[in-house]
Amino acid sequence: MGETKEISIRRPDDWHLHLRDGEMLKVVVGYTTRSFARAIVMPNLNPPITTTKLALSYKERIINALPKEVDFTPLMTCFLTDNSDADDIVSGHLNGVITAVKLYPSGSTTNSSEGVTNIAKVFGVLERMEKAGIPLLVHGEVNDPSIDIFYREAVFIDRTLIPLLKRFPGLKVVFEHITTSNAVDFVKSAGPNIAATITVHHLIINRNALFANGFRPHMYCLPVAKHESHRLALRIAATSGDVKFFLGTDSAPHSLSDKESSCGCAGIFSSPTALEHYTQVFEEEGALDKLESFASLNGPKFYGLNPNKDRIKLIKSKSVVPNDVEVSNINGKAIKVRPFLANEALNWTLAN
Ligand code: NCD
Ligand code: ZN
Repeated sequence: MGETKEISIRRPDDWHLHLRDGEMLKVVVGYTTRSFARAIVMPNLNPPITTTKLALSYKERIINALPKEVDFTPLMTCFLTDNSDADDIVSGHLNGVITAVKLYPSGSTTNSSEGVTNIAKVFGVLERMEKAGIPLLVHGEVNDPSIDIFYREAVFIDRTLIPLLKRFPGLKVVFEHITTSNAVDFVKSAGPNIAATITVHHLIINRNALFANGFRPHMYCLPVAKHESHRLALRIAATSGDVKFFLGTDSAPHSLSDKESSCGCAGIFSSPTALEHYTQVFEEEGALDKLESFASLNGPKFYGLNPNKDRIKLIKSKSVVPNDVEVSNINGKAIKVRPFLANEALNWTLAN
């Protein structure tokens, strides 16, 4: 059998994405719509999207920022706080504005200070969500600074997730951007109401990438990349065809000055080449036949949506990941963001 030169799959979706707002939104959204038809849009703006009303106006800003003649559906999420209003969330979901609700343990990541301080504070909301079938998307890291940063995901499973699912066994949960074999094992052993997204960068880099001949802020994201053994477990899970795992880039652009700083922001901007990089990973694992389920079928199935009808084609031909992208220019002062693996070789190209 000859080498695969091209692959055609149903158009994929991105089940975890940061689109930001304002000038940044206008530029970064086009990188997503190149390959993806829908995306679950994260609500961690500053201030966060905490109500149906805010979600609706953010959705309108996203639609207004879309490139011309692009067919793209932003699926909106609501940021859970200690004071979230269950009635608003349930009616926002019934009206089709809110697809899911996002749990950020307070202080666990970028713009999460208004997140949940103690999970017991939102039991009332979670009970209503369980009844209404509204998915809870979790940033699965404890916010306890005494826990080693490389163990915060594993500890979250024991301290928060397991007790939570005991209390709400029917709650639909997406364990977002998993980074450990502990999370893979947990999701596999849980019921069909539990799934996980896997980013492309966690399939490609391990924690050494942060310290390769010097500190590399553009490899810093949360949850932080882990030991190689975890990366390998993620690659097996993603390429296994198991319906519980699906594509979520967690593409999270920050300006160069916010990344290259004495307190640099967490987030990797992967959307310019995410699909091409996922394809490369599946090829390396000898699993190109599983790419479509991971990228285009398992996500819609979990969310109770139809897969996209149209198809896209990827061709095995060499190109280069784009360099820094300018998102605004005020009086000659450019604000730029750096794509994941900028200027490095790319083996797959999306056909138009
Ligand atoms: C995200 C961001 O910048 O909004 N950062 C990241 O490192 N992934 C927040 C998040 O998803 O944790
Ligand atoms: Zn994220």
